[in-house]
Amino acid sequence: MQIKSAEYLMSNDDFRKCPKPDKPEFAFIGRSNVGKSSLINMLTSNSKLAKTSGSPGKTQKINHFVINGSWYLVDLPGYGYAKVSKEQREVFRKMIEGYVLNRQNLVNLFVLVDCRLEPQEIDVEFINWLGTNRVPFTIIFTKADKIGPNALIAKVEAYKAHLLQAWETLPDMLTSSAVSKLGQEEILDYIQNIINQLR
Ligand code: GTP
Ligand code: MG
Repeated sequence: MQIKSAEYLMSNDDFRKCPKPDKPEFAFIGRSNVGKSSLINMLTSNSKLAKTSGSPGKTQKINHFVINGSWYLVDLPGYGYAKVSKEQREVFRKMIEGYVLNRQNLVNLFVLVDCRLEPQEIDVEFINWLGTNRVPFTIIFTKADKIGPNALIAKVEAYKAHLLQAWETLPDMLTSSAVSKLGQEEILDYIQNIINQLR
């Protein structure tokens, strides 16, 4: 998929206020600081589209972007980061859960996990929650530039083994780096494929 246009539309703190669900929607979720906003900027080749930050808790709302005038890309707040206050975590949790369970045009959720870490309880819990609620999702391992290619493969394999303890089938898994642009074409083509299947 070629990105011809990527425009910021609006930010909301509740799924009920989100734009009319008239386009297929793809959202990015994951722990605070995992690189959701950076990945969105990398995918759209626009470093200023989504706001990024070195400190967690930067994205605080449900942010809608219109891509190629035909689909919505959504940047969400992060969940469960210890350095974010308990109250704020709770606000984000409610916002995310309401959005994920009720957004009619949400086609697929991308769950981002930091490729360097062992499976984190908070991520696995969230993934299991998606499974229980039958929400379609794909895992993206971020920050791949921080480890070598062989280590990356090993981390992905270890993650699969961990999920297979609870799951019979595995979700799709992709890898990315906002620095090296690894995954840009693959993720955009992955989205295009899903959109094609909707027709
Ligand atoms: P919240 O909005 O706070 O939930 O965080 P986020 O998930 O949107 O993370 P964000 O994109 O703001 O990035 C967090 C930090 O990680 C920033 O300092 C980024 O520069 C850095 N970062 C993000 N992606 C990558 C990556 O692929 N490689 C490297 N090396 N750093 C990255
Ligand atoms: Mg963000």
